[in-house]
Amino acid sequence: MMKILQFRNGDTMPAIGLGTWKSKEGEVYKAVTEALRIGYRHIDCAAIYGNEAEIGQAFKDAMASGVVQREDLWVTSKLWNNAHRKEQVLPALQQTLRDLNLDYLDLYIIHWPVALKEGIGFPGSAEDFLSLDEVPLSETWEAMEQCAEQGLARHIGVSNFSIPKIKNLLSTARIRPEMNQVEMHPYLQQNALLNYCKQENVHITAYSPLGSSDRPVHLIQTNDPVLLEDATIAAIAEKHSCSPAQVLISWAVHRGTSVIPKSVSPVRLQQNLEAASVALDGEDMAQIAELDRGFRFINGSTWAREGAYYTTTAELWDE
Ligand code: A2P
Repeated sequence: MMKILQFRNGDTMPAIGLGTWKSKEGEVYKAVTEALRIGYRHIDCAAIYGNEAEIGQAFKDAMASGVVQREDLWVTSKLWNNAHRKEQVLPALQQTLRDLNLDYLDLYIIHWPVALKEGIGFPGSAEDFLSLDEVPLSETWEAMEQCAEQGLARHIGVSNFSIPKIKNLLSTARIRPEMNQVEMHPYLQQNALLNYCKQENVHITAYSPLGSSDRPVHLIQTNDPVLLEDATIAAIAEKHSCSPAQVLISWAVHRGTSVIPKSVSPVRLQQNLEAASVALDGEDMAQIAELDRGFRFINGSTWAREGAYYTTTAELWDE
């Protein structure tokens, strides 16, 4: 039985979704088609992943052949950093909807608390950033609220937001954010953020739950740990006759979060979905709790530099 996250208006989001970051063009159509065929009903997308049109084709074909109906599918997408000005948000959402072949999203979230100039994908220099004094997150959020009011996004939220940044947003929001999507796994458990969000009725989606070993090379350092090879996780997997990935996914579900493992392999897609039935016990959870080391695979260094709004990643994460 798939666990769900419950929203205030009665909508439900399947806890386990499919991640599509790093799923290449030419591969993602097959991955999404297969995922829908075997029962995934939550797909996590973003404009910046560069693959929404191909995912949209998979949605269109799956709906046309009766594999899934729109109302049974949860689709999330994300506003890229270069469209934070109020007049840019709705057009960005409309482009994503065209690409995905949808007329509404279940959830639209601000991808990062970072603003870039129009047309910039990733920053080459400090010049490419906009200051959040000039384009505050409250301005972007107002435009997100309008997207919700027009019915183009059933729910709105944020991603990569710290406790202070959520607090700040809540102080001006008319419509409260209902989701914060952040990196979360046994090496980055984020208990304070998890508890704060629970208290404020903001759901959490855990990204990079398997340690994103296929992340871009510039985000890999020689001594980075490999989450899927952790000895404690391996021992728990053996105890339950399941795979390490399934332990990691089940751990996220046990903590009441949504989780979006990425895969383009049919075998692993199936395995990841079946993680819902791995029943971790109190002892497993206690052992995994010990693994926390505050380690980020996605460390945010792209967004901090001399002359930019955040000069250090500590300012980005507020830690
Ligand atoms: P692949 O797409 O070839 O299956 P994350 O979700 O943390 O970003 O991690 C994604 C990485 O983990 C990808 O390299 C993906 O490879 C791999 N992966 C996904 N599912 C599993 C699994 N069940 N076992 C091992 N590796 C997996």
